[in-house]
Amino acid sequence: MFRTKLWISGLIGLGAVCCIGLIVANGNSGDSKRLHTTEDALLARSRVPLQARTILERACQDCHSDNTVWPWYAHIPPFSREIHSDVARGRSFMNFSKWSKYSEGQRRGLVLAILADTKAGLMPPPAFVRMHGNAKLSDGDLKELKKWAMAETRVRSKNGDGGSR
Ligand code: HEC
Repeated sequence: MFRTKLWISGLIGLGAVCCIGLIVANGNSGDSKRLHTTEDALLARSRVPLQARTILERACQDCHSDNTVWPWYAHIPPFSREIHSDVARGRSFMNFSKWSKYSEGQRRGLVLAILADTKAGLMPPPAFVRMHGNAKLSDGDLKELKKWAMAETRVRSKNGDGGSR
C-alpha cells in the first residue's frame, strides 16, 4: 500500500517536471531560432539595404514571410485561430520571402504602404508589439525604412543600381 502511494507520487512529480520542461522549452524556442546571419536571413539576396532588412526581420517577418517563428501560444485555442489567420492574411498581402518575385511596380507600391503604415503606428500591429517587445520601431528604425523607401521608389539611374547597396 505504502509502495503504491510512493509510486504514484513519484509519477506525478515526474509528470510535473516534464510539463514545466516542455513549457520552458517552448517558450524559449522563439528567441533561440531568431538567427540573423544565416543564409535564410530575410531578403538576404535582395537589393534591400542591410539596415532595413534587419528591421523587417525583427518586426515584420513573423506575419509577412515564410520565416514565421510561432510562439507557444499559437497552438492553443482560442489564440491559435486568430494568430494563424493574421499570418495568412499578412503573407497574402505581402510576403518578404517572395520579394524577388514581385514586379518593380509592386515593390514600389508595397514600400510606400510600408512607409505609411509604420509611420502611422499601424504596423507592426500594437497587439503584436505588446507580446514582442523587440518588434517596436524606434525613430531610428523609421528613418532607415524611409531611406530604403526613397531609394526603392527613385527612378533608377542609368547604370541601374538605383543608389541602394
Ligand atoms: C501580427 C502580424 C503582423 C505583423 C508583425 C506585421 N503585420 Fe503587416 N499586416 C498584417 C495583416 C494581418 C495585414 C492585413 C491587414 C488587413 O487584412 O487589413 C497586414 C497588412 C500590412 C500592410 C498593408 C496594409 C494596408 O495598407 O492595407 C502593410 C504595408 C504591412 N502590413 C506592413 C508591415 C510592416 C512593415 C511590418 C513590420 C514593421 C508589419 N506589417 C508587421 C499582420 C502583421
